[in-house]
Amino acid sequence: MTYHLTVNGSDVALEVPGMRRLLDALREDLGLTGTKEGCGEGECGACSVVVDGRLVDSCLVPVCQVDGASVLTVEGLAPAGGLDALQHAFLETGGAQCGICTPGMLMAARAYLDEGGGTGHDEIREAIAGNLCRCTGYTKIIDAIAQAAAET
Ligand code: FES
Ligand code: FES
Repeated sequence: MTYHLTVNGSDVALEVPGMRRLLDALREDLGLTGTKEGCGEGECGACSVVVDGRLVDSCLVPVCQVDGASVLTVEGLAPAGGLDALQHAFLETGGAQCGICTPGMLMAARAYLDEGGGTGHDEIREAIAGNLCRCTGYTKIIDAIAQAAAET
């Protein structure tokens, strides 16, 4: 079976079993290894991507459920050769340390900003509640998202 998706603005056709995880299709079939696997069980958010404007855990989503959808991964955030406002802010505040959670955090933050999210730390904390970080204590991540929200 062939599934047709738009990934980071490009049309792609995936000839895979329908129950293949979107995470595996992105990383292994399309070579988009920016999306990370942490728990593989929907608990950590490392695999977060945006599907039709909604944040999802790609480890829980079978390809058959995203046929015809538009998928945004961390590779699609930045303009060619540059960084987007969130990536800049993470860099400036120290919001990324080991980096394993960072692609998922960026995608959660992108979904939050695209929904009109503002600079409030409580609302940001809620927006990234599904994304775990073992390194930063979250404060710098929240500062980074607030900084990007203030700039947009
Ligand atoms: S790897 Fe998908 S939520 Fe942890
Ligand atoms: S920076 Fe290491 S898990 Fe978040």
